[in-house]
Parts: sequence; C-alpha cells; structure tokens
Amino acid sequence: MIPIVGMRGIVKRFGDVVALDGVDLALQRGEIHALLGENGAGKTTLMNVLSGLYRADAGTITVEGEPVEVRAPRDALRRGIGMVHQHFELVPQFTVLENVILGREGAVWLRRNRARAAVQQLAAQYGITLDLDARVRTLSVGVQQKVEVLKALYRGVRVLILDEPTTMLTPQEVDALFSTVSWFTSQGLTVVFITHKIREALRISSRITVMRRGRVVTTCSRATVTEQQLVQLMIGEMSPAVPARDGRLRGDQPVLVVRDLAVTDDRGSRAVSGCSFEVFPGELVGLAGVAGNGQKELGEALIGVRAASAGSIVLDGRDVGRTSVRRRLVQGLAVIPEDRLREGILPGMSLTETLVLGPHHFMFPRGRYDARRAEAACREAIAQFQIVAPDAKVPSAHLSGGNIQKALAARAFLLSSVAGSKLLLAMHPTRGLDVRATEFLHGRLRDFVRAGGAVLLISEDLDELMTLSDRLLVLYRGTAAATFERAKFDPYQIGAAMTGVGTAGSA
Ligand SMILES: Nc1ncnc2c1ncn2[C@@H]1O[C@H](COP(=O)(O)OP(=O)(O)OP(=O)(O)O)[C@@H](O)[C@H]1O
Ligand SMILES: [Mg+2]
Repeated sequence: MIPIVGMRGIVKRFGDVVALDGVDLALQRGEIHALLGENGAGKTTLMNVLSGLYRADAGTITVEGEPVEVRAPRDALRRGIGMVHQHFELVPQFTVLENVILGREGAVWLRRNRARAAVQQLAAQYGITLDLDARVRTLSVGVQQKVEVLKALYRGVRVLILDEPTTMLTPQEVDALFSTVSWFTSQGLTVVFITHKIREALRISSRITVMRRGRVVTTCSRATVTEQQLVQLMIGEMSPAVPARDGRLRGDQPVLVVRDLAVTDDRGSRAVSGCSFEVFPGELVGLAGVAGNGQKELGEALIGVRAASAGSIVLDGRDVGRTSVRRRLVQGLAVIPEDRLREGILPGMSLTETLVLGPHHFMFPRGRYDARRAEAACREAIAQFQIVAPDAKVPSAHLSGGNIQKALAARAFLLSSVAGSKLLLAMHPTRGLDVRATEFLHGRLRDFVRAGGAVLLISEDLDELMTLSDRLLVLYRGTAAATFERAKFDPYQIGAAMTGVGTAGSA
C-alpha cells in the first residue's frame, strides 16, 4: 500500500544540535499514528518539517507516492497536510466562524455568510459541535482547540497533525477529543497524534512510532506492544520506581495562611471568593479542581502578579497580600509558574538569564550580575534536570516545550536554595513533561517537603495529586470547598467535590 505520506532520511540541524538525524516515517490513510517520545526527542520538529514550518537539511517527502517540495505551510496545505500547534493561533476578539475562514482568499466580511453554510456542514460531518458566533476569547482551551481543528478541516486538510493536544484539557475534554478523532478516521482522515504519554498512545492510535534523540526507534502496531515495552523503547532503560511515601512531618505553625481571599479575573468577575486555607511546613498540599474554578487567579494572587480584592495572605507570619513579588520571594516564596510566556520565560532571553530571573535577587550581592556564577548555576541545572539544550546561551524560545518546563522547575529550586524558600507554589509543574522528567520532579518536590519545606501543588491531574499530596483541597467556584486527608483519599468523592456535588452552599 502506498503511504499517504512518506518521509525518508529527514535531517534537521539547529546550529550544532541535530534535532532529526535521518528519520523515516510512513503514514497510512485513515490511521491514527501516535508519535511518542520524551521531551526533546524531535517530535514537534519532525512535524514542523512535514507541515512546512521548517525546511529539512536533507531527506525527501512524498505524498501518495509523489515527491513533493514543502517549503512553506501553504505547500503542505495544498497537499492536504495541516498542523494544530500547542499554542493556538486564533484571534481572540473574532468569532469562531471568522477564525475558521480567516486566511483563505477574500475578505472575511464578504464571505462570512457564504462560508457559514459550508462551515456548518463540515462541522456536522466531522462531529464537531461549536457555536459559530461565539467570540474565541470567551471559550475554554478545549473549545478553542476544536476551532483550530475545524479551521484545518476547512482548509481541506486530509492529514491532521495534533501536537500534544491533551496537555491543557480536562479528563472530560480528553474523552471528547478522542471520540472526535476516532470519528475523523472513519471519514478518511489520517491523524498524527504527538504525545509523550504512553497510555494515550495506546488508547487512541492504531500505530505508534517511538522517537528518541532525533531518531526513530521503531514503528509498531498498537496491538503488538505493551506499556512496559514502550517505556523501554522511549527511554532506553527501565524507569526508577516512584519514591515511597514517608510519614507525617508536619510542623505546628502554618507557613501560609489564606483568609477570605477574593480575586477577580481578567473579565472583572469574581474568580476566587471567601477562600481560606493553611499550609504547614513539612506537608505537600494538593489543590484539585476542574480547570477554570479559580486555580489560576488564586495562584497569581499568591505570587503577587494579580491583586486580591479582599482577604489576606500571610506568609511565614507576615501579611504579604499587598506586597510586590520580590518582597514575597524574600519572605520565602518560590514558584513554578503556570504561564510559561508571561511569568515564565521571555523569548529573547538566554537559558542562563531565564534560570537566574528571580534567584538573581539573592545570587548577586550589591546587584552586580556575575556571569560566571550565573553560568555555573545554569550548567548545574541543565545537568540535574536533564534539560536538552545545546548550551547555556541558547534562547529559551528555542527549547522544546518540555525543556522550557524543566527550566522553570529548575529555577524554582535554584531560588529555594539561594533564598532559603519555605513555600513552593507549583502550578501544573509537570505539564508537558515526559515520564522520566515527571518522576524526577515529583522526587524533588517530596525532597523539599522532607527537608521541612511546604509545597502547594496546583494540578488538574488527579493521579498526580493523589500520589504526591499529604492533604488535598478542592477548589470549586473559587472557594476551598472540601479537604481530604491522605488516609481518606477517594477519587470518586474528590471528583464529586470537584464538580460541586454535595458541597453545601456552593451552588
Ligand atoms: N527553533 C529551534 N532552534 C534551536 N533548537 C531547536 C529549535 N526547535 C527545536 N530545537 C531543538 O531540537 C530538539 C528537538 O526538539 P522538539 O521540539 O522537536 O522536541 P519534542 O520531541 O517535540 O519535545 P517535547 O515533548 O518537549 O515538546 C531539542 O533539542 C530542541 O532544543
Ligand atoms: Mg514538542
């Protein structure tokens, strides 16, 4: 059978980094093909080559057996190949319909009505339900993703590439995405599903290609491979077991006391209100909740990048609720932020500069930047966190998604070591990290707690929360609606609290 897409001997270098080292990949019509690999394996780069965002240094691409030149995304689109990136490229103030038709020839306002019927029909054919007149900025991430997919379909895409599409989704949204994607293949579409989650690859795909360090390790059919085998193929060795949990270490005086906190979101509505809780030294408190229940705003208020409209935040005995971010760092706060771009990295900054941003307040006496010290810290972080980067000077924006995430985690630990931080606020710290990096970071968080620190972990991954936490708080509609002690963790009850079932007074 002639593959719908054939890639042979693809090589892509970035300076000295060989991101792709002679990769072969064949996609069959109507299959869901998982591209599985650890952070920095080359998955995104390979698909950027196929979709025309990057040009390969060597290798050939065929579509239905015909050699093709893919110089730019429009060449790929003309052959029916399109990609949905992890960071969406939608115009927030436009409607769904406008976004879907944007970028095809002709002015949007001329074609809006003519296009509506076509878009509606397409959505119905592919089982995508969307309000075409909703403004994109009002939509959740999961719904925005549907808009991106519909946009690709409207461009006539037959090979749809999804780059880590589940990272930002709730479990319910993941289920919905998976059933939509399965339906696509019945309509003759071919789907490439980039992931580093083995279970996802096993659940959704018909074939799996495993990549490691810029090469294809193997392509196999899902039916012939086990989870254990995939772990080995992906990382080349067995991963260490999750560290055993230790007993209670909790101190008596809370390091963080939040009282009746209220915070408004970007649209001016109450995202957090009447929220009260405490975190003690020597404990890891997990904050569970369905996305959009105030986690982001609460985190930002704790960091000091969003003002609280009422209530208090007492950190290590001192009310910091109205103080600067820097003051809170001095008072003992370290953060792994949620928003990689806004609070995380500045694209023009080097990896070294990114790593010392925050720690620099404590690393350089009298405020004089010491390049040697900064670079030494950076080299250590790269080694410890296994950040895949050519060198310490590389612009952060050139790192793979997972490696940026590792850098942000490394920075928080660097800060805690130079500033003696007492509370680590970790917001979705393992988003985009592969199995090994996730295990490493989990270990570091537990080490921090074992050494007497406190961790507040905000995550949407209930498995992660239940594995790591000593205590779980459920945030529902901006309030700490329920607390669960580790001995009483029950996913069903926690899930009920997350969806507001049986939480008195929170309707
Ligand atoms: N624009 C770029 N400039 C320089 N290096 C790059 C660029 N894009 C990717 N790389 C490098 O190529 C390698 C492969 O990166 P890629 O983004 O393809 O990884 P990935 O498998 O998608 O990983 P992740 O799961 O972390 O997203 C990495 O070492 C990365 O740093
Ligand atoms: Mg990637």
